[in-house]
Amino acid sequence: MIPDVALFEVGPRDGLQSRGGMVSTESKIDLIDGLSRSGFRRIEATSFVSPRWVPQMADAAEVMAGIERCPGLRYAALTPNLTGFERALAAGCDEVAVFASASEGFSRANLNCSIEESFARFAPVLAAAKDADVPVRSYLSMVIACPFDGPTDPAVAAHWAHRLIEAGCYEVSLGDTIGAGTPDTLDALLRTLLVDIAPDRLAGHFHDTTGHAAELVALSLERGLRCFDASVAGLGGCPYAPGAPGNVDTRRVLEVVEAHGLSHGIDLDALARAETIARGLTRD
Ligand code: HMG
Ligand code: MG
Repeated sequence: MIPDVALFEVGPRDGLQSRGGMVSTESKIDLIDGLSRSGFRRIEATSFVSPRWVPQMADAAEVMAGIERCPGLRYAALTPNLTGFERALAAGCDEVAVFASASEGFSRANLNCSIEESFARFAPVLAAAKDADVPVRSYLSMVIACPFDGPTDPAVAAHWAHRLIEAGCYEVSLGDTIGAGTPDTLDALLRTLLVDIAPDRLAGHFHDTTGHAAELVALSLERGLRCFDASVAGLGGCPYAPGAPGNVDTRRVLEVVEAHGLSHGIDLDALARAETIARGLTRD
């Protein structure tokens, strides 16, 4: 049975990229294998980015080679450019994601280029992915506010969200990268986006800086969104976004989903075992 709400687990990528220390390849594989047994349909296992920029993800290919694949589960990875896509394809990723910013300041800090230039780098990724029949997801960061540029105009976020969909991405994950969102600011954004983007093309990606993430999930559910990115045991952050804390904890999202009378398909006992692995990593 297809659950009402899809959880997209990002702990192995978003969680582990932000740690000051390094997590061993074996520990990453253990974590992903634990998550694979929990009922997720998509797990973001790693990213194929420059190891100079994010050394924590330098072992992306080794991680992909070491995991035990669960049938029906798509293992995803971030790919900022064609080099990343080719590496991800060779490593056997089932889907990839391009990642743009709704603010120029964060685009420069995270991708070393303007937003428009980042789209020029995504174009060959989307073309190659189409040829290889690999689905492409997308992220749009700083949809509420940016530590460099201040509040984001919902119309500007909507412009870039449309561009990602027009480029061929099957879903745009809305990144409140620094956890600045409140129910009011998210509502203003969703009202703008949902004028002409269907809710099933959007996902919520909330970082829990100010403790509002669960409220943002609840509001998004009420506005019709049915996919949320979350991180096992709340692992998370972003190395190029000062102040970005952990992603919203997967278990917290499940509680909100259940409180709305919706199903999620996650095995809570298996998730508890993955949480134990995740908490062990934070003590590495
Ligand atoms: P650059 O320095 O402008 O690009 O970086 P470059 O083309 O000059 O490449 C620099 C070096 O990296 C070269 O190597 C390239 O070959 C190599 P060198 O000649 O110096 O030895 N390189 C690569 N190596 C491996 N894989 C690749 C790759 N590309 C180039 N794919 C670049 C531009 C985009 C590469 C860089 O800025 C980058 O890797 N950025 C990624 C930063 C990142 O991963 N941030 C975290 C993820 S985003 C996030 O967390 C937000 C999100 O969670 C949503 C939210 O919360 O809002 C998704
Ligand atoms: Mg993030």
